[in-house]
Amino acid sequence: MKFLIFVIFAYLNIVNSQHIFEHPCKERPILQNFDIQKYVAHTWYELMRFDATFEKHCDCGQATYTLNSDNSVEVKNCCKRFGEGHCSLGKAALGEPDQVPLEGKFIVSFGQPATEPNYKVLSTDYENYSIVYNCKNLPENKSLEFFWLLSSKPQLDDSVKSTVDNLIKEYFETDKLYTVNQTEEFCAPRDY
Ligand SMILES: *[C@@H]1O[C@H](CO)[C@@H](O)[C@H](O)[C@H]1NC(C)=O
Ligand SMILES: *[C@@H]1O[C@H](CO)[C@@H](O)[C@H](O)[C@H]1NC(C)=O
Ligand SMILES: *[C@@H]1O[C@H](CO)[C@@H](O)[C@H](O)[C@H]1NC(C)=O
Repeated sequence: MKFLIFVIFAYLNIVNSQHIFEHPCKERPILQNFDIQKYVAHTWYELMRFDATFEKHCDCGQATYTLNSDNSVEVKNCCKRFGEGHCSLGKAALGEPDQVPLEGKFIVSFGQPATEPNYKVLSTDYENYSIVYNCKNLPENKSLEFFWLLSSKPQLDDSVKSTVDNLIKEYFETDKLYTVNQTEEFCAPRDY
């Protein structure tokens, strides 16, 4: 009995800390004419997200993508939890590699292989920012959403701030977003 209660509690915890919305997934664009080479050319810092279970208490997050010759990508996601660095290694494959023009979507897997695109680029200028999302419809008109705002620097470049703000406001519920701490005083040394 004790065990069952624990399992139910753990399950509720997992469900509660995912971002479940009381509406089906919204229609959102996926970036067209995706240039994978430019996209993986530098490290991306995580500035905002819907706080998913697997990223709980993760600050100072950064993602490094390494392109293989077959267009698959090695993914290294690192962050600090309570001052200690943690990294996860994963793989990404283009959602539809033969598509012309190419859409900005990946199937990213960490351990368990994923089968459907779960990393969709809404918009990126390749140099400064990338807005990434995923959404899954659930029963009863609900949906589970993921969102990441990535930046090539720990702070967003002023030249793109208003573009990024407007896109986020147009497509996402901003009051649910978690702002990742990327300050140097908090994150240094970034010894991942
Ligand atoms: C992105 O940032 C760079 C500086 O890092 C700047 O020169 C460039 O104009 C910015 N891109 C856009 C689209 O504003
Ligand atoms: C889901 O939404 C549709 C359209 O608004 C509505 O007709 C339907 O009854 C809803 N279903 C549930 C289970 O709430
Ligand atoms: C980041 O962490 C520092 C040090 O704990 C704190 O002073 C600062 O307010 C935090 N900033 C954000 C944006 O969370």
